[in-house]
Amino acid sequence: MSLESVSLSRVKPSATLAADQKGRELKAQGRDIISLAAGEPDFDTPDNIKEAAIKAIRDGKTKYTTVDGIPELKEAIVGKFARENGLTYKASQVNVSPGGKPVIWNAMISTLNPGDEVVIPTPYWVSYWDIVRLAGGTPVAAPTTAQSGFKLSAEGLEKAITPKTKWLLLNSPSNPSGAAYTRGELKALADVLLRHPHVMILTDDMYEHLVFGDFEFWTIAQVEPALYDRTLTMNGVSKAYAMTGWRIGYAAGPEPLIKLMAKVESQSTSNPCSISQWAAVEALNGTQEFIKPNARLFQERRDLVVDWLNKVPGLHCPRPEGAFYVYPSCAGLLSKKTPDGKTIDSDEDFARYLLETEGVAVVHGTAFGLAPHFRISYATSNEELREACTRIERACRALQ
Ligand SMILES: Cc1ncc(COP(=O)(O)O)c(C=O)c1O
Repeated sequence: MSLESVSLSRVKPSATLAADQKGRELKAQGRDIISLAAGEPDFDTPDNIKEAAIKAIRDGKTKYTTVDGIPELKEAIVGKFARENGLTYKASQVNVSPGGKPVIWNAMISTLNPGDEVVIPTPYWVSYWDIVRLAGGTPVAAPTTAQSGFKLSAEGLEKAITPKTKWLLLNSPSNPSGAAYTRGELKALADVLLRHPHVMILTDDMYEHLVFGDFEFWTIAQVEPALYDRTLTMNGVSKAYAMTGWRIGYAAGPEPLIKLMAKVESQSTSNPCSISQWAAVEALNGTQEFIKPNARLFQERRDLVVDWLNKVPGLHCPRPEGAFYVYPSCAGLLSKKTPDGKTIDSDEDFARYLLETEGVAVVHGTAFGLAPHFRISYATSNEELREACTRIERACRALQ
């Protein structure tokens, strides 16, 4: 009898966490490694947020809380959606979970039955595919291309929807491509969705605050109010407030769905960490003044990496609108040989070659459902990014 359950055997461990872990292990062994694999901001959680957590500890806010979030945090989330997205919710429409990932998990496990399909545009964040499979649903890839800026078109969405479709998972700005949908692009998708009233929408807006230049962030329930009743608008404090380790994610949507998600939470994690919830209240209600300067810093880094990689023969790197990732193609390097005679047959071979020869950890695109690409997280210092680009360029030029 196998120890592993049939449902768990359907999924793979997270490729992004595995790549980052591998980089950390090699570093611990003394190798000179630059990891561009991790999906987290390199700066510290702002002091006002840390102080709120310390105060929560001192005030004894260290006990169980309401399963799906303290009322103060739910109110802060209601305020955030009204202020930043023009969306009106009641506190009873809000779920707080221990991270954005558990929000998605809670939504999927509480709604999917065997045979239910979930449309996922590719390239996708690695966890979407496997969460859907673990929850017993069937992920359906809706392909995009670099030419379309890695964005799903209305035709692509129409083609992917069947009578069995239960959810569409949207993510803007995207991990791994950085692509962000304009208001018009979201409206085109919304028009398709209006013709298919059986499809629910989960929009993952985790990177909302990391958009560049004059790009304006929009979320689908705001663009098309007729979709409000079937949209779960998800967000979190992990990326915008550099709080990845605090584990707070949240979403707002139809009350019956929110109740189901709380039921899952009540029998799995229980409440998110009480102290982190008070920190998140401060994150959402306190000063937002570091958000714009951080986005500008990330924009500078994006430009550094994109400009550099586009000068490297064999690579092509689109310039995305947001997040802190780029998703270059390495198609021009396939079939080439490494100095020790191995052939680069795939993006996985290329990522391995970069790590082995130059100590640069990236994540191969196959893990995100669109090859041959690789993902670079540029959430690190300009100095380290320059060194990483120098090494990537040297590795590419050494291929014959
Ligand atoms: C698109 C996207 N959604 C959700 C998450 C999960 O966020 P959290 O760390 O809050 O679980 C991530 C984290 O990398 C992400 O990239």
